[in-house]
Amino acid sequence: MTDQPIDALTEEQAASEAADLRPQILKWGQQYYDADAPVVEDDVYDRVYARLVALETVFPAIITPDSPTQRVGGSTRGDLPKVTHEIPMLSLGDVFSIAELKEFDERLRSNVEDDFDYNCELKIDGLAISLRYENGKFVQGSTRGNGQIGEDITANLKTIKSIPQTLSRPLTIDVRGECYMPKAAFLALNERREAAGQAPFANPRNAAAGSLRQLDTQVTADRQLATFMYNIADYEPLTTRTQSGLLDELAELGFTTNATYQVAHNMADVAAYIDQYQGKRGDLPYGIDGIVIKANSLPLQRSIGATVKVPRWAIAYKFPPEEVETVVRDIEWTVGRTGIVTPTAVMDPVALAGSTVARASLHNPDYLEAKDIRLGDTVLLHKAGDIIPEISQYVVAKRSADAQPYPVPTHCPSCGAELVHLDEEVALRCINPRCPAQLAEGMNHFASRNAMNIAGLGPQIVSQLFDRKLVDDVASLYRLTTDQLLTLDKFGEKSAQNLLTAIDNSRNNSLERLLFGLGIRHVGAKAARSIAAEFGDIDHLMAADSESISAIDTVGGIIADSVVTYFASDQVQQLIADLREVGVNLTFTGDIPATDSEGQFAGQRVVLTGKLQELTRPEATEWLERHGATVTGSVSKKTDLLIAGEAAGSKLTKAQSLNVPVWNEAQLQAAMDETK
Ligand code: IVH
Repeated sequence: MTDQPIDALTEEQAASEAADLRPQILKWGQQYYDADAPVVEDDVYDRVYARLVALETVFPAIITPDSPTQRVGGSTRGDLPKVTHEIPMLSLGDVFSIAELKEFDERLRSNVEDDFDYNCELKIDGLAISLRYENGKFVQGSTRGNGQIGEDITANLKTIKSIPQTLSRPLTIDVRGECYMPKAAFLALNERREAAGQAPFANPRNAAAGSLRQLDTQVTADRQLATFMYNIADYEPLTTRTQSGLLDELAELGFTTNATYQVAHNMADVAAYIDQYQGKRGDLPYGIDGIVIKANSLPLQRSIGATVKVPRWAIAYKFPPEEVETVVRDIEWTVGRTGIVTPTAVMDPVALAGSTVARASLHNPDYLEAKDIRLGDTVLLHKAGDIIPEISQYVVAKRSADAQPYPVPTHCPSCGAELVHLDEEVALRCINPRCPAQLAEGMNHFASRNAMNIAGLGPQIVSQLFDRKLVDDVASLYRLTTDQLLTLDKFGEKSAQNLLTAIDNSRNNSLERLLFGLGIRHVGAKAARSIAAEFGDIDHLMAADSESISAIDTVGGIIADSVVTYFASDQVQQLIADLREVGVNLTFTGDIPATDSEGQFAGQRVVLTGKLQELTRPEATEWLERHGATVTGSVSKKTDLLIAGEAAGSKLTKAQSLNVPVWNEAQLQAAMDETK
């Protein structure tokens, strides 16, 4: 990925960059969705994805149908049971201007004999969900997935207050709509995450998706998600025959629907609606990214039909990116874990597309120079891809006569070492391996949840540890004493003891956590796991050449080379020796996550339902899958076994009616004990 400002690119350059990014994103995406842990860290994926979105937003003509941004949705993550949508969940076609909207209207009208109305609705920026009700009872909720197969997120959806458990009429229906995180909840959540040293979510949609597509219902319950329902798979059971009537009828049934819809007789009405809500966008308590217009008659919708992906009777008008003015007060230079020194513009805070923005990355010195941003400049700020704050340009008329070009630093803001450009990189780097900022960033990563998982060791504590010279590398963490920790701000006996225990416990982690935690370039949690499982201990890994590392299925040459280069360094070898000396485990002790095609459950479709007492759902699912089972979300004739915990409901009844064998939790435990 280059960091060239997008508006400095020609369409050709943008197309060529996008063509490079797409296969990379698709590959990472598959690795992410097919397994628990991604090969690259989320923020790398997010940044590259956002760059592609931004390129395609600025140059819509370069969008290709197979672009990852055009897929019906995220694929399914392996660890959630799958649900087949009997009637597929469609996406929407996009237009970006009123002219294109008019073309859509003309095309449609030329194919429809009679006059017809549209229903205009807000396009809620969330995650599409489908809710199944049987005889008026909520039985299953799912994500869209790829449109045909989604994920079973029933348990999580049950924690959302706006989803009725029982309808006012005993209908059997699949109702579709959007699950979203209100702006206020999103901002509060990110504040909490940043305070806890976790990466903030890029936008409310990612936050909503992340909250639903994980396995702990308590987490979902705490996230204050909400829903607006707007569609039904089959309208027959309803009395209404219009889209606007459908929204009313869904509300009568007990759903939350968005009340802002309006019926439009013509394009002038549609344009007025767009105008109205584009203006109100910032005031709404939830994010919207456009307007959806739908042929209002449901029978007409049916007769017009759909392509494989999108209905022909509806279209989304996407808002152009919002732009606001603010003033640059400072340019901050921060040193990342890999030594890259990045400038960030610090500006007067402004409200922009649903959040308050006060910082925007200036990426690297070339970018800064090309944009020629100076202290005190008034700048235009927008969100690239509606996500990442980006300065478009300074306002020439408002620049003060004595504003000076911003001097790029020549020395590291943390350690004072001279900064360099490696291999013609645009990035400015500090290559001092003992640079405190890099070490501190590296330690934050080392302690993070997917790495050594040292609870309580967040950025604020890490920076104090370095400032007070209590640590100088990750090995020295294991030599800390209670007395030393007591010198930290707000630390008492108990907090010192807790932190020491957490550090101490991390000594026993399996090798893959350490490998990931060391922050070797390109090595994500998944690659770390594959490598650790393959080599078994660090000595075998350190003796391995690039070829034998890249022979591992999920590990490519770039990762393998990076691992070899890393361990070739004297400083790294010293660090490993130190880690060994302080008693950090250097062997792989995790379970090998292979599925057992010969296993006790080989080829069997198993469904879990009800509340398990001793096991968690993920534990049971993981164990079953490891022993050959496919764990699915709904009971059908094809189900081989239902495992029913306490308070099992409709799935148990259904399994019994289909003569599917049913186990209780104790029987599952017994099977697990037997194979131990
Ligand atoms: S209608 C066949 N209506 O936008 C019906 N979608 O970019 C297709 N969305 O997949 C969807 N608000 O997740 C519809 N009022 C609305 C919507 C809406 C948000 C989402 C939905 C859809 C995506 C397409």
